[in-house]
Amino acid sequence: MRRHLLSAADLSRDDATLVLDTAEEMRTLADRPIKKLPALRGRTVVNLFFEDSTRTRISFEAAAKRLSADVINFAAGGSSVSKGESLKDTALTLQAMGADAIVVRHHSSGAAHRLAAAEWTRGSIVNAGDGTHEHPTQALLDAFTMRRHLGDLAGRRVTIVGDVLHSRVARSNALLLTTLGAEVTLVGPPTLLPFGVAGWPVETSYDLDAAIVKSDAVMMLRVQRERMNAAFFPSAREYSRRYGLDARRMGLLPEHTLVLHPGPMNRGMEISADVADSARSVIVEQVSNGVAVRMAVLYLLLSGVTVPAGISIDASSEAGGAA
Ligand code: NCD
Repeated sequence: MRRHLLSAADLSRDDATLVLDTAEEMRTLADRPIKKLPALRGRTVVNLFFEDSTRTRISFEAAAKRLSADVINFAAGGSSVSKGESLKDTALTLQAMGADAIVVRHHSSGAAHRLAAAEWTRGSIVNAGDGTHEHPTQALLDAFTMRRHLGDLAGRRVTIVGDVLHSRVARSNALLLTTLGAEVTLVGPPTLLPFGVAGWPVETSYDLDAAIVKSDAVMMLRVQRERMNAAFFPSAREYSRRYGLDARRMGLLPEHTLVLHPGPMNRGMEISADVADSARSVIVEQVSNGVAVRMAVLYLLLSGVTVPAGISIDASSEAGGAA
């Protein structure tokens, strides 16, 4: 049986809860002087990153190392990819080196599905962000962080704000949070809400002030200029005024409301520096929780213990995405 984590939609409520509960166990390791478990000794995890990343790559590396796996970091810049090597040949090379898990980030939506469905490798594929499509471990770490502060997420209201159109974080969060019973509202300018959002299990709004006053958590998204090929809003100033979280807006939030951001942040654009550094913000905590969540995912996929059904997809039954 092949096992992958490609989409937040693959996770049932029980699967997601098992990952979050396992992450809770993993998190206790961070407080110990020796932050290591022998669980994945002798296993090899490859970080295959075709797109820039700071926290996701380091986080997967720390997670794999804390489980005693061998880690190979592969960045497309500086590799044979710049000589025109295909995803297939890269995957075959990694297979020949005995990769048990491939954590892949790629600029094309569907790349992780393609790797899993093509069966070029026998290892587990973990999607660490594919184009504007999905980023399931980010959604898991966001849910983990919210759950630590708010308890069960059923009935909780989460507002996701900004460049939803280009955000794999928003898509994975919308899927996972609704699976966990939360109510999700997406807020952004009409140009940055995806076409077809009406079919998502969420509410949408263009009015940030109205949405945040009833939120238990507000997740700000980075404005992804590198994916914008046109002007999606008149000016940065106009964007921040309508869709940025600054001190005035933070004053409208209920007392218990959390502020999240997946990073990297554009300080002064979608979030002001004082809000990012305020006591409400759990942004740094998201980063440390990311390691525990990725440890849980790698452990559940690779250790051979009970694997939740949602992350035990038989790749041969997958239709496969375009890469
Ligand atoms: C996000 C990503 O790369 O999708 N960041 C992350 O993984 N921490 C969000 C972003 O780039 O804005």
